[in-house]
Amino acid sequence: MINIPKGTKDMLPAEAHLWQYVEDVAKITAEGYGFREIRTPVFERTELFARGVGDTTDIVNKEMYTFLDKGNRSITLRPEGTAGVARAFLENGLQSGALPFKAYYLISAYRYERPQAGRLREFHQFGAELYGAADPSADAEAISLASSLLQNLGLEHVELRINSIGCPACRARYQTALREFFLPHIDKMCEDCKVRVQKNPMRMLDCKEEGCKQFTLHAPKIVDYLCDDCRNHYERTKALLTAAKVKFTEDPFIVRGLDYYTRTVFEFVSDAAGAQGTVLGGGRYDGLLEQLGGSHTPAVGFAAGIERLLLAMQAEGVEFPAPTGTDCYLAGMDDVSREKAFLLAEELRRAGLCCETDLMGRSLKAQFKYADKIGARFVAVIGENELQEGVVQLKNMRTSSSVRVKFEELAQAVLGEEE
Ligand code: HAM
Repeated sequence: MINIPKGTKDMLPAEAHLWQYVEDVAKITAEGYGFREIRTPVFERTELFARGVGDTTDIVNKEMYTFLDKGNRSITLRPEGTAGVARAFLENGLQSGALPFKAYYLISAYRYERPQAGRLREFHQFGAELYGAADPSADAEAISLASSLLQNLGLEHVELRINSIGCPACRARYQTALREFFLPHIDKMCEDCKVRVQKNPMRMLDCKEEGCKQFTLHAPKIVDYLCDDCRNHYERTKALLTAAKVKFTEDPFIVRGLDYYTRTVFEFVSDAAGAQGTVLGGGRYDGLLEQLGGSHTPAVGFAAGIERLLLAMQAEGVEFPAPTGTDCYLAGMDDVSREKAFLLAEELRRAGLCCETDLMGRSLKAQFKYADKIGARFVAVIGENELQEGVVQLKNMRTSSSVRVKFEELAQAVLGEEE
């Protein structure tokens, strides 16, 4: 037998309704804020992520699924959704359409990471992006959408953490301060940090190595280096969130794992999502569209990991709606009645009911057993007598009571009894 690749998972029919529920809630919530769906390719030219996500990130340096296609082009399976949406926005000239542009997506994404609970190599994201609005109200709206999504999913134990990482100007001053702070300790830090201290010392704040963490705790904080415009933007964003009753805590060490962010960054953290606490992350990224060849376009967005949302929901004991099961199983006692059952099932489906009938040539007893297994609410039995009289024996599987119902009234009877 050939096994599934490491870090991937099958989503089996028995759990499909859980995924569909999360996806439906996400879509409805985003549409309530005026976001519309966008779909972009699973793979893009490698350059898009190298330029977009950034070449000092772990994602680009270590985790991308990159290969040469048969035309010798370097192709990468998307490690996230933002860069693809930005490319699509520019390539399709959407900047000349209605702004702000608001789009959401449900995607699979690929990162070559060390798999563990809540961390996969193929995972799924719900994301939302908003382009064209520089105002802090756009940051607040994106965060409010993220917060409503988690609330609508029934998650109560998630904490919103926010920070501002400034613009390139204030960040340059901060990077210098960080470099000065870390350099005296650099010999005791990991190999990656020795590179990061020169290339992008902010990445050191995100280092997972225990040996490095002890230094990062005492590092200078970006909030002390923000320029007036960035500080005002941050203050206004927080004021709007407070007014909208979106609870948050400030975390000066959120830097995010991708290079494109400017100003506001945020994460929603659940202690219930296994080893991986962050269920949703995002922020403002005013430089990305320009960096990809477009005109200056302010942008803000976020993405949530569907697997992590499900883990958090299960850990919090959120009740999922029951899967919609089979309304009526049509059982035939012999070949002629089986054919009638087949045709009646077709009719009932046209009336909007979910129906099944025997495809296995089973005995009546075995058909009942199957109907029970799939949780059919009704079983309609047809035998020689029923065929002659044009009726079925309709058994309510919950109460075990049976009634005789005419063929032409069966759909109505099942619908009526269900209400
Ligand atoms: P990210 O923080 O890299 O941001 O990922 C967002 C979310 O995707 C994480 O909070 C997590 O729930 C989930 N996730 C990430 N990696 C994995 C993994 N290996 N296994 C399972 N779940 C994972 C982004 O991707 C940005 N594009 C978000 C964004 C959109 N920023 C602005 N717009």
